[in-house]
Amino acid sequence: MTPRTAKKKPTKKKTVTKKAAKRRVVTSTNNVKPRLYASLVVQLLSLLKGEHDLVANAANFSALLFNSLPNVNWAGFYFLKGEELVLGPFQGNPACVRIPMGKGVCGVAARQVETIIVPNVHEFPGHIACDVASNAEIVVPLFDGERLLGVLDLDSPTIGRFDDQDAEGLNELVTVFVAHEEGLGL
Ligand code: SME
Repeated sequence: MTPRTAKKKPTKKKTVTKKAAKRRVVTSTNNVKPRLYASLVVQLLSLLKGEHDLVANAANFSALLFNSLPNVNWAGFYFLKGEELVLGPFQGNPACVRIPMGKGVCGVAARQVETIIVPNVHEFPGHIACDVASNAEIVVPLFDGERLLGVLDLDSPTIGRFDDQDAEGLNELVTVFVAHEEGLGL
């Protein structure tokens, strides 16, 4: 018996205009990060559910970010203790333990209580280098109303890695986290 091969139907060639192709690319690029962050919010909520230990929750949160976000070589927390930020749960290489307010990207973000995106850390005056592989950084302050609790810090080896969509997504995630931890003496 001779093996039978399925007859291939002639396929219709699709004509994609340059304009349509461009539109498609732009649409998909714009949606990727918001969709990823939306899925991270769902995953974070599920990780936090029923658990109120701050260290355990911050550790799982940093692991979630480190393993889900592309091109990230450090993700973790610094919590405010007195006038210093003190290293909390994180994923990545060992890092400096204490950062005074106003020092480094973390200290500046904490003092100004605003998210700081640093496309190239080598151009940020006073940047504290913990990992030689880091070239870009984003720091998101954690606050409960007016009260500063600490910062979430992410590093990347890729220059320009973080943008406004990351800032928006990470701010939403820390809001979920802080709301969950409220009242625990964070
Ligand atoms: N680069 C930070 C220090 C912390 S590490 O990146 C983990 C800074 O300048 O504050």
